[in-house]
Amino acid sequence: MKKEFNSEELTIPTHVAIIMDGNGRWAKKRLMPRNFGHKAGAKVVEQICEDAYNLGIKYLTVYAFSTENWKRTVEEVTGIMNLLRNYLKDCIERASKNNMRVRVIGDRTALDADIVERIEELEKMTAQYDGLQFTIALNYGGRDEILRAVKKIASNVKEGTLDVENIDETCISSYLDTNDIPDPDLMIRTSGELRLSNYLIWQLAYCEFYFTDVLWPDFTVEHLKEAILHYNGRDRRYGGVK
Ligand code: IPE
Ligand code: IPE
Ligand code: MG
Repeated sequence: MKKEFNSEELTIPTHVAIIMDGNGRWAKKRLMPRNFGHKAGAKVVEQICEDAYNLGIKYLTVYAFSTENWKRTVEEVTGIMNLLRNYLKDCIERASKNNMRVRVIGDRTALDADIVERIEELEKMTAQYDGLQFTIALNYGGRDEILRAVKKIASNVKEGTLDVENIDETCISSYLDTNDIPDPDLMIRTSGELRLSNYLIWQLAYCEFYFTDVLWPDFTVEHLKEAILHYNGRDRRYGGVK
């Protein structure tokens, strides 16, 4: 018998990280251009933010665009960036309505100036909100994030503001884009791919992984509940013995 979802009896993961994959295949199945899939995917993000918060999830982080996604055609990248422009604009209103705090992680230097401006405005306007703590990984790569952190650490050591003896795991975490966000408890990847694709490689060290064949535009709260049920069946040992 399938286990029922009863949030009172379940452990709800504090932080869920999602690799929203499969937009292109979803569009292809409908004989539509890839950007049609991205548009449908963006709608799903809005819904999942609400659902996640209603289920008791405090932090949600989604992978929107990786440092490797620039390899796609100019048409696709332009389409994604335009979608993002609209998304960020609408997000300001939705965030204030839902008390949602929005942060963006990743390397902003490669993004268009108007997008960076919108991100800064959104982060500033929502900084005090204590509802869902929503993070968008944009032009994000785990290796790139670590590389940028290492450069900052090296330059602080050089200028004398950081002592080599004080570099420990907590210190390194504090130099990452996710410095004020706890590590994810559950990572969900849609579309059947079984890899990390450079997502949060430091932060996911002890995370539980859940993979589903569902394509991102088809992902609903029922799939999210299914992932949480699986999470509840896991035994998190962190290297110890239970
Ligand atoms: C994920 O869907 C969205 C982004 C990477 C921007 P994809 O565009 O990777 O969809 P598939 O994997 O080609 O189906
Ligand atoms: C990962 O998906 C990036 C995002 C979902 C934004 P990709 O579709 O780019 O990953 P690969 O190419 O299958 O590894
Ligand atoms: Mg993909």
